[in-house]
Amino acid sequence: MGDLVLITGGAGFIGSHLTDELLKRGYRVRIIDNLLPQVHGSVSVKPSYLNPEAEFIRADICDSEALRKALKGVKAVFHLPASVGVGQSMYQIKKYTQTNNIGTSVLLENLLHTSVEKLVVASSMSIYGEGLYKGSDGFIHNTTIRTVDQLRKAQWDLCCEDGTVMEPLPTPESKVPCLASIYALSKYDQERMCLLIGNAYNIPTVALRFFNVYGTRQALSNPYTGVLAIFASRYLNSRPPMIFEDGKQRRDFVHVYDVCTACCCALERCIANLSINIGSGIYYSISQVALELSKVLGKTDIEPLISGKFRIGDIRHCFADITLAKNVLGYKPKITLEKGLIELAAWLENQIAHDKLDIANSELVARGLTS
Ligand code: UD1
Repeated sequence: MGDLVLITGGAGFIGSHLTDELLKRGYRVRIIDNLLPQVHGSVSVKPSYLNPEAEFIRADICDSEALRKALKGVKAVFHLPASVGVGQSMYQIKKYTQTNNIGTSVLLENLLHTSVEKLVVASSMSIYGEGLYKGSDGFIHNTTIRTVDQLRKAQWDLCCEDGTVMEPLPTPESKVPCLASIYALSKYDQERMCLLIGNAYNIPTVALRFFNVYGTRQALSNPYTGVLAIFASRYLNSRPPMIFEDGKQRRDFVHVYDVCTACCCALERCIANLSINIGSGIYYSISQVALELSKVLGKTDIEPLISGKFRIGDIRHCFADITLAKNVLGYKPKITLEKGLIELAAWLENQIAHDKLDIANSELVARGLTS
């Protein structure tokens, strides 16, 4: 019989795919998840895509008693649960701190008395804030930010003092964290807490810093989720995607299958006390991504709306340097964006997406977090 692995937050998008991959590799899987309505809909039933071979416990990550039971006989833990809306985290501060920070503390307290031999925690590129940049003077800039004043003037790019636009570079793990939202702060806390306790109690621990993960099973009706799911939901409802700024901001889209392979390598390799970027290492602009998605959905007649508006806390560019992942995990992303979007489109054909973007955006407007 294979080792038992616990996935906290395992009913979500990444967790459910990871469940499939672990079962395929011969592990036994136990999931603990509270089926958050924002992700799973108001009825909050166990999602039909969840692999029936996995054991399922419905409980909150802050439920210490449930976690204690869930950890019985477990050899390794993947810690995935998180509230994930960057903008939303700036007004639902207690909720984000509760799930992300307190939830992690509850897990860690319960881990101390177990025979768990590996902990893998989902961290995020959000902790970097802006990615790494090079100025026209050749200097590397580690802690650049955009001011709200600059954004109000539609000066989207990061510039040197002489006004020249800085060049974005692949971001390595050594980049100084620059925490621009409660969400980013909470992900950094999650990562640090796990690494610190793992090190102190000799539980080999690895933090994987996910970039913009996409794929099937993303919560399409959750307007606080990633941009691809939001755009898909707009196209499916025959509405134009709403692009912030000028659409030239760059991101690193990594397919959920590649993320799951990386997770399994982190589990199986003899490594500890490391934070590792998991991206594709390739960047796309947001406009490009909207266009690519419209092509696979046959919706090229719908022109995206380039709004010139912005979200406070958004970054301009960030894409991953994946050298460390290649070296220590043997990680090699396999799914190109083109291939990943074709698979996504096939899945989307049978999905109903409730487009709630207007609600999400008006919440940001009401709080002065967009303009
Ligand atoms: C953020 C987090 C990331 C998290 C992800 C999903 C940061 C730096 N990163 O990433 O860790 O996993 O959210 O919650 O905080 N956009 C539009 N129109 C839309 C929605 C988004 O143009 O309707 C643009 C945004 O302005 C942004 C880009 O698309 O420039 C990507 O946005 P999003 O998917 O929210 O993710 P990130 O901000 O990259």
